[in-house]
Amino acid sequence: MSRTLLIVKPDAVERNLIGYIVGRLERAGFKIVEMRMLTLDETKARSFYAVHEGKPFLNDLVKFMTSGPVVLMALEKENAVEDLRTLIGATDPAKAACGTIRQEIALNIEKNSVHASDSDDNATKEIAHFF
Ligand code: CMP
Repeated sequence: MSRTLLIVKPDAVERNLIGYIVGRLERAGFKIVEMRMLTLDETKARSFYAVHEGKPFLNDLVKFMTSGPVVLMALEKENAVEDLRTLIGATDPAKAACGTIRQEIALNIEKNSVHASDSDDNATKEIAHFF
C-alpha cells in the first residue's frame, strides 16, 4: 500500500463537484484515510507550490488556490501515486485522456479541478504539509 495527496481545488468545490470526485476515487479503489476542508492562506499555498517558484503562472495560481475552500485528502491504494495521476489525467484538460477527471470537469490549465502528488517522495512531503 502507498499514499498520495489529492486536493479538490476551489473551482471544483464552487461547482459542487466534491461528491463526483470522491465517487470517482472510491470506485477506482482509493481509500480516503484523511480528509479536511479549508481555505488556504497565501503562506500555505505558496509553500505548497514552492517547486514552481519563478514560474510565470505562480502568482495567479496562488491567488486561485486561496480564492475559496479546497478539500485535502490523503489516499491509500497499491501504486497510489501513479494510479491517481492516471485517473485525473494531464495538467491541461485539453490534453487529458478521455474519461479522466480533468477531461470531464476541469475548466482550463489553471482551474484544473484537482491536484495529485507526482512521486512517492512528494506524496510523503505533501501529506505532511497538511496533515
Ligand atoms: P497542479 O497539478 O496543482 O500543479 C501546478 C499547478 O499550476 C497546476 O496543477 C495548475 O493548476 C497550475 N498551472 C497554471 N498554469 C500552468 C502551466 N502553464 N503549466 C503547469 N501548471 C500550470
